[in-house]
Amino acid sequence: MTDQSFVTLSTNDSYARGALVLGSSLKQHRTTKRLTVLITPQVSESMRKVLEKIFDEVILVDILDSRDSAHLTLMKRPELGVTLTKLHCWSLIQYSKCVFMDADTLVLTNIDELFEREELSAAPDPGWPDCFNSGVFVYRPSIETYNQLLHMASEQGSFDGGDQGLLNMFFSSWATTDIKKHLPFIYNLSSISIYSYLPAFKAFGANAKVVHFLGRIKPWNYTYDPKTKSVRSDSHDPTVIDPQFLTMWWDIFTTNILPLLQHFGVVKDTFTALHALSGLAYTLAFSCGFCRKAEVTDAMLHMSIGDLSPPPQPFVSSEERKERWEQGQADYMGADSFDNIKRKLDTYLQ
Ligand code: UDP
Ligand code: GLC
Ligand code: MN
Repeated sequence: MTDQSFVTLSTNDSYARGALVLGSSLKQHRTTKRLTVLITPQVSESMRKVLEKIFDEVILVDILDSRDSAHLTLMKRPELGVTLTKLHCWSLIQYSKCVFMDADTLVLTNIDELFEREELSAAPDPGWPDCFNSGVFVYRPSIETYNQLLHMASEQGSFDGGDQGLLNMFFSSWATTDIKKHLPFIYNLSSISIYSYLPAFKAFGANAKVVHFLGRIKPWNYTYDPKTKSVRSDSHDPTVIDPQFLTMWWDIFTTNILPLLQHFGVVKDTFTALHALSGLAYTLAFSCGFCRKAEVTDAMLHMSIGDLSPPPQPFVSSEERKERWEQGQADYMGADSFDNIKRKLDTYLQ
């Protein structure tokens, strides 16, 4: 079907890894639809080449950022202003119908039947089920809708600072009008909600068709041991009760994606090993939620790393450091060395 496509988005090389695994999982389950990824100029040239291997279309768009730190802070996700870039998906009018999927989703079976649904079909958000979650939705590209969405964004803003708030404002009758537009939860199973309703997960989880790694810590931030084919248990988010989905993600990544990244020079030979080392450190360094007792914040960590490194380092903001880290450019021999971070955490945990 050339006029129907799955569409995802990646504004940097980290989310591109997620997009690649998603695209690969769609292919593995023999979709007959096209695969499209929207990227922004921040995605590296070599990563674009890899994306072209998995996706039929790699489309460059400009970044749309709400810069609405007030609302985004409520979600503790200051980085999500750029998710407004998702709105570009309505401009893909070469297609008559599309299914948008976040780059942090993974397909477990063929889901082409979603194209039988109408705009705007989506599953309930696990945090506020009267809103839909915008990680998976069926829509019809249209320049008119695209312009109306941009107009609403600039006139009224979004109540969460990201695309989900805006889309729920725009498609405001979703909750009450047409039950056919409510996708079953198995099309957007959030790994976090497994925790909040474990009996339902036990009863229905085996039917899951799409898993969504919603939240700040993404599969690519974990440590994976290729020998045991498992995600290192000491790097688990305690809210992820069943790590099987993370393992599936990593299995596809190491089998289908890593060789491509190596071939196109996105990943150097030593990188994998270093990244494996960085997984736990990343988790601890950038997520307070994992370390409730210690509440290690970026700022505290940054300060302490400064204290521990004898020669004064050029100042790198916490955000910048995180960005570099996510792109595999951590200062492993200096401020971000494992010993430094471990020493710091030991101090806090005491
Ligand atoms: N995204 C991106 N770059 C970013 C943040 C988000 O490309 O810096 C895209 C990506 O497709 C991602 C989606 O926007 O899956 C929504 O963000 P995220 O999945 O992090 O939000 P969550 O589902 O965790 O609320
Ligand atoms: C949500 C969605 C995500 C969206 C973000 C910002 O949690 O899962 O797709 O981009 O909020 O609105
Ligand atoms: Mn997501």
